[in-house]
Amino acid sequence: MTNCQVADFYPIQKLVAVNNKQIAIAAIGVKMVYQTGREIFHALKDINLNIHRGDIQLLMGPSGSGKTTLLSIFAGILTPSGGRVNLLGEEITKMSDKQLSRFRLENIGFIFQSFNLFPALTALENVQLALKIKGIRGKIAKEQALSLLSQVGLADKTNLLPRNLSGGQKQRVAIARALTGSPQLIMADEPTAALDSRSGQKAIELLRRLAKEEGSTVLIVTHDPRIMDVADRVVHLEDGMLVK
Ligand SMILES: Nc1ncnc2c1ncn2[C@@H]1O[C@H](COP(=O)(O)OP(=O)(O)OP(=O)(O)O)[C@@H](O)[C@H]1O
Ligand SMILES: [Mg+2]
Repeated sequence: MTNCQVADFYPIQKLVAVNNKQIAIAAIGVKMVYQTGREIFHALKDINLNIHRGDIQLLMGPSGSGKTTLLSIFAGILTPSGGRVNLLGEEITKMSDKQLSRFRLENIGFIFQSFNLFPALTALENVQLALKIKGIRGKIAKEQALSLLSQVGLADKTNLLPRNLSGGQKQRVAIARALTGSPQLIMADEPTAALDSRSGQKAIELLRRLAKEEGSTVLIVTHDPRIMDVADRVVHLEDGMLVK
């Protein structure tokens, strides 16, 4: 693991190589201002960051420093108040809502801090639904869903509803769901926070394998020292700014 080098902060226009590595995720002067009534809060102030393809990149920082906000902007879930975001060579901050939804569906797997599972669907159905949205149906979808659930150690829980799963098991269903369709970009907000040490290790190994064998770019918000061990790079946010 290395801390950010100067090259990481150079803005880019298109998918370009820095140090011979392609840039998968780039933030160029990203700002986020939240307004609640008359209160204005600058949650992100001029963020410039390049993340390399195939890297496991960690985003760390104290509570309230802006980690979830930045991750949500990278995933196209939140629109920044200023600046640009470039994913896989495409400027998502210029896309229409429709273009952005399609881009997200095809390229991004997002693991939320809260799991966001459908309560009326079983673990298997939650993963199958994600596949269906991506155009994969029937027997193939069922096989892929079962395979993903077994990779996160839930082979014996596929027919349970979320309310009958523990927090860590729900988190693992959410991880399996995010990995449907083998997205090139995986973004995870505290993916191991609810996991015991064995399932945490399994989830980390899965994310590591996706980055190193499939070339996925994995951006993780975490405080987990075990993830630090497998990370390629780490950046720190403090009061909405990147610090070295
Ligand atoms: N919708 C919102 N409206 C107003 N302020 C917000 C909103 N969302 C986040 N904030 C504020 O922006 C700051 C950054 O929030 P964010 O959720 O990005 O922090 P975080 O680093 O993910 O924290 P944690 O580690 O606790 O999850 C916080 O001070 C928060 O109160
Ligand atoms: Mg957060």
